[in-house]
Amino acid sequence: MQNSQITTFFEKLQLHIDNKELVKLTLAGKRDKNSDLKKLIVSPVELKKGYYLNFVYRHNTKDITKNFEITEGIDLLLKLLENDFLNADLFSAKENINLSTLPNGKTLLKFNKPTMTTNLTFTHDKPKERLIDTKDNIYLRELGITNINGDVRREMSDKFKQINQYIELLSPYLNELELTDEFHIADMGSGKGYLTFTLYDYVTNRLKVNIKTTGVEFRQELVDTCNNIAQKADLSGLSFTKGTIEQAELHKIDILIALHACDTATDDAIFRGIKSEAELIVCAPCCHKQIRKAMHVQNELANVTRFGILKERQAEIITDTLRAMILEAYGYKTNVFEFISLEHTPKNVMIVGRKTKGFPRNKQDIFKNISAIKELYGIEKHYLEKLLEI
Ligand SMILES: C[S@@+](CC[C@H](N)C(=O)[O-])C[C@H]1O[C@@H](n2cnc3c(N)ncnc32)[C@H](O)[C@@H]1O
Repeated sequence: MQNSQITTFFEKLQLHIDNKELVKLTLAGKRDKNSDLKKLIVSPVELKKGYYLNFVYRHNTKDITKNFEITEGIDLLLKLLENDFLNADLFSAKENINLSTLPNGKTLLKFNKPTMTTNLTFTHDKPKERLIDTKDNIYLRELGITNINGDVRREMSDKFKQINQYIELLSPYLNELELTDEFHIADMGSGKGYLTFTLYDYVTNRLKVNIKTTGVEFRQELVDTCNNIAQKADLSGLSFTKGTIEQAELHKIDILIALHACDTATDDAIFRGIKSEAELIVCAPCCHKQIRKAMHVQNELANVTRFGILKERQAEIITDTLRAMILEAYGYKTNVFEFISLEHTPKNVMIVGRKTKGFPRNKQDIFKNISAIKELYGIEKHYLEKLLEI
């Protein structure tokens, strides 16, 4: 099927890769409406073994990531465009190129001015170098993650891994949003601020967007410490405020973060995100007491909740499943991943919802499914439903 426009598109792709100007390439518009694979996001990475293409296969409920050597990656992209997707968008530092397949099967190639700069960090090439730069990094030193020489302190290496993993998980979402200086991130229950500083650093220094960020925390001593560090590090768009997740006064919220906020505090945060029509809602729930107490199973599943530890695990799954479904009902396409939490459990989940136009098609179906799950587990209401007055 290769016509001259496709050939031009792939020649351009090769050129931008050769010049290390490629920022991102996406394939979208599934040919088969029933396919679970809905998008492909490709970005360049420089690994120890060389320059590679990182493919993120976005499925309905999960992302799969693979790295391919350039020639293999380009061959694969061509096949995916032929068989799976109708449209391709290439973003380079020099130009944007859009290749669309029209209903009559013809293709249309459009060239536009660039909208993205290369933020290639090539972080995968050296084992110690990560998305968050330790060099001359004042806040990492003040937080005790690095020493005076800028090296990660041995006892903080797990924490450093966690903050980098956090940015790695979020970066595809941030890249998808058209971030502007007007965006406001609210980090609810910011605690010691590790992840608040890191996200602010990544967006302002790597993505070059002068975003505003507020950490909300009810412990005054943590607020003061974090504000002092932000001042020392000259991070003018980042501040911390004493307040509660439920009531802290915030001008607006475009990205709502709530990491390891206990029990229903996560729901309070999600509720604020939904009410503020945040573009992105990210939470990593911690304990799940509300649903555990609310579960009164009186059917074949009774044995599944008979043993304390197993009931607890069920409660976690049900709590977060319902959160994800409620987010979907309110227009957020939602994914759930594994995220490392060092302070509580060895592993837990991260729920990410992206506000998506035209989604969901049938909100009532989602509510019906939520009711069915609640009925099965004898749950009257999820706390988030109470907040939303569903
Ligand atoms: C476990 S820490 C997590 C800190 C940080 N988000 C992280 O993941 O590294 C939870 C923080 O949320 C704060 N917190 C809990 N409930 C809150 C609420 N309702 N309003 C404001 N802060 C809250 C606690 O004081 C604590 O510092």
